[in-house]
Parts: sequence; C-alpha cells; structure tokens
Amino acid sequence: MTAYLIRNVSVVGGAPTDLLIRDGVVAETGAGLTAPDATVLDATGLVALPGLVDLHTHLREPGREDAETVESGSRAAALGGYTAVCAMANTSPVADTAGVVEQVWRLGREAGLVDVQPIGAVTVGLAGERLAELGAMADSAARVRIFSDDGHCVADPKLMRRALEYVKAFDGVIAQHAEEPRLTEGAQMHEGEVSTRLGLTGWPAVAEEAIIARDVLLAEHVGSRLHICHVSTAGSVEVLRHAKARGVKVTAEVTPHHLLLTDEKATTYDPVYKVNPPLRTAADVAALRAALAEGVIDIVATDHAPHAVEDKECEWAYARPGMLGLETALSIALDVLGPQWDLIAERMSRAPARIAGLDSHGLDPAPGVPANLTLVDPAARRVIEPAELASRSRNTPYARMTLPGRIVATFLRGEPTVLDGKAVK
Ligand code: DOR
Repeated sequence: MTAYLIRNVSVVGGAPTDLLIRDGVVAETGAGLTAPDATVLDATGLVALPGLVDLHTHLREPGREDAETVESGSRAAALGGYTAVCAMANTSPVADTAGVVEQVWRLGREAGLVDVQPIGAVTVGLAGERLAELGAMADSAARVRIFSDDGHCVADPKLMRRALEYVKAFDGVIAQHAEEPRLTEGAQMHEGEVSTRLGLTGWPAVAEEAIIARDVLLAEHVGSRLHICHVSTAGSVEVLRHAKARGVKVTAEVTPHHLLLTDEKATTYDPVYKVNPPLRTAADVAALRAALAEGVIDIVATDHAPHAVEDKECEWAYARPGMLGLETALSIALDVLGPQWDLIAERMSRAPARIAGLDSHGLDPAPGVPANLTLVDPAARRVIEPAELASRSRNTPYARMTLPGRIVATFLRGEPTVLDGKAVK
C-alpha cells in the first residue's frame, strides 16, 4: 500500500499542516513531516475535509443501467468528494429483500470507489401496502439501517407506525419522502404564482408539511428515529423546528438544488428543472438556507437522480422528475454557504455518517482515523460541461454554469480514488 504525504493542507479550514496517510489511516499530522517512502502531494491552498457522505443517491442498478450503474455512480461520487453513499431502494427489482440489497452492496465493493450502503424499501415493491423484509435486510451482509420508499410516500399512517416500531429493534431509521399523494395528483411543479401563470398543475407545500407533521407525531409516539428526505418548504422547516424543540428523534436533509434554484426555472419549460419535490419559491430557498445554517436541517443530501435522455428530453409533463447531484454538490454548498468549512464538514460528512451509522466515515483527519477524506481547491472555478460528467446521465441543471471549488483528490481507506481531479480507475 502506497503511503501519501499531503503537504501544507488546511484541515477543515485550519492552519496549514502535513498529513501522512499510511496503511489506510491518517498516521501522523503536523508541520514538516518526513516519510521517504511516501508519495508527496503539495496541497498548498487546499482544504482537507472528511470524505463526504451522501444519504440520498439513486444508483439505478439493478434495472436502469442505461441511466447509471453502481460503478458509474460511485465514480461520480468519488469525483464529487464522497467516500460513502446510501443507495436508494427504487431500483428494478426494488431493493425490498436481502437478496437485492446484498447485490447492490456487493457491486459497490467490487467498484471500490466509495462505500455503497444500500437503503432498503419500507414496503414490498414500494407499493405502500405491506412491510418489506426489514429484519432480513438488517441482518444481511449489507447491514441495512435506513429504510425508505423514496420516490413514493409511505402514505398509510398505520403502516408508517409499524415501520417506525419495527426498526427500533436494530436502531434503524425510516427516511420518509413526505408527499401526501392525494394532494399532488397530476402535479407538475410547485403550486403558486408561477404554476398559475404557466397553467401547470401545482404541488402544494402543504402536501409535504402535512406528512412531516403527522410523522414527527408518530415518531414521538413510538420513540423511533425518523429522517425526512429532501425538505423543500419554509413551512416544513417550522414543523421540524417545533418537533426538534420537543425532543423528537427527527433529522432532515435538503438538496443542493432546493438551496439554489426556484420555481421560476419552470418558465423555461426545460424538463431538466422538473424534480420531486419541485423547486419552490425564493422565500422557501431563504428559509432552507437559514435552517441549514441553524441546524434545524441537519444535512445536505444530493438526491442524485440520473435519468436516460429519452426520460428527460421530452415534453415537461412526460419527463421523469430528478436531477444529477453528486459531482456538483460541494460546489453548490460552497456557493451557498461560503467557505464555512466546519459547517460544510458537519452537514455533508459528519452528520450524515452519524445518521447512517457509518462509523468509519465522517471523521476529521487526525492520527489513527481511517483515511477517508477529500481535498478541495476552494479558489478554483469550473464550468460544468454535462459531457464531462462521470455519471451515465446528463440531466444536470447546472450545465455551462461556472461554479466555485474543485475536488482535487479523494481517498478511501488511504487509497486515492481521485487524484489531480481525475478518477484513478
Ligand atoms: O425527483 C426525484 N427523483 N424525486 C424522487 O423522490 C425520486 C427521484 C428518482 O428516483 O428519480
């Protein structure tokens, strides 16, 4: 195993120091380290962060390998600075059995670019009718701890209660896609002034807020852990604030696109901006940013949702919802939060690792810690060219935008997955 001596790096925004990586761990830190056998990387001007952890990634395998595979998504993740991703269950077949989650987990190990932690479905086939084999998935080699029907809401309150109760036995968490389905029938975009102007059926904020309110009460009632996927409205933030003040064990994520883009994008009719939940108003964006800074929203999660060209480049009404996210998330966070490195490390690495129970991730580089880390050049600016992305899909909403920050290197257990901004394999 090659040793690496990273010179002059700012660890999470601190004063420049050296990091020696050997045998999969950070062996030493401090100024002026020497290690004759090590490969030296000059990291002057770069910031080292604990490897990013994404709690919400769609890898599409099995079933839609034309849009993404575990390997291509893993490569996109590593290039985005990630060392671990949680793979959503809405594959084909659905990841609702030990067999499928083990398959995804094994494919992740074979790709070897990030740790792929499968998420299991809450209900069989995501149909919202019967609980899936939660215990069997938890006991499998994939050791599933997060369960989600993401893409669909667990709308039945009795089933949601059962799921919350069930996962307590192994300290699991239910990650809810909060969308009251009766309130969003036929919805195409955020319900508001822009949808009225465009004549498109609206997805009202209350459809999200009503489910979050219900589920924090259920989680409180049964004493279970609840996680809310892709929070998108100011009202949801208020419900979460209230629940957290009561001590409910609820955590929440926001996506980079909900932190940056608004429903005005729909006026282009470009389906690249179609996403679920939809882009909201500028007031919602402001509330989400404040909640993220404050901690009412715990983490940034990408909801990386690759889609094949034919599913995206069509009429708005027929396009699938979803956007790419892994290769641009850190840049969006830097754009939105500025160089608040400790906050970025907390929201994009430490907290998601804690929620997912990924013990070897989310740890700041320090002696003895597994060398899962990423090096960022905060001064770099790059133009996003869809054709240059490692994802198999091209549905980025940031095409040809100039974004701050560049991932220079990523290390997984001491081995580089990205060097000089390029994937190593
Ligand atoms: O926009 C979305 N796309 N939202 C979801 O909840 C699911 C995802 C997908 O799987 O494409």
